[in-house]
Amino acid sequence: MSNDCPKERGRHGKKSKSDMVNLTGNIEQKDDMTLNRRAFLKTAAGASMALGLATVPFSLRAMVGLAEDDTEHVEIVQLDQLPRGESVTFNYPTENDPSILVHTNDGELVAYNSACTHLMCPVFYEKESETLLCPCHKGYFDLKSGHPIAGPPQRELPLIEVEVINGTVYATGRQYRHG
Ligand code: FES
Repeated sequence: MSNDCPKERGRHGKKSKSDMVNLTGNIEQKDDMTLNRRAFLKTAAGASMALGLATVPFSLRAMVGLAEDDTEHVEIVQLDQLPRGESVTFNYPTENDPSILVHTNDGELVAYNSACTHLMCPVFYEKESETLLCPCHKGYFDLKSGHPIAGPPQRELPLIEVEVINGTVYATGRQYRHG
């Protein structure tokens, strides 16, 4: 049996003091939860906005087909070692990316990743027809653009940007194009 005075009890039979303490505690707890929820939502919104913004440059670059700039200059060959109508193979941007540099009959330098976009066989330069040929299923690519022109391949070869510095040909970037 309790010795509490009924006057000290609140409406629901609990002690008034305890009620006040609980009430105060509940109010603060509610505020805390609201603030925490708000802070969490703010942080989450901020984080997702930051992540979204961080991907914008990549999206824009992908949309306009710009070159990757995370690659360094990689030496391919001395230009005087590659007469017109000849080609040389190299790897770019990594050792796992076989590529081909062609010195065309009219003196241009063009380079592509050389894994055929059909089933990855290596493409070769055909001097007579000035095309890139994949012998596996007779796929042909335009030498100047890398676009498929005959056979099963549907996608163009990734273009390797090249630059000649002091007589040496360097790979300086790669472009994935869509079209
Ligand atoms: S792998 Fe090149 S045409 Fe099939």
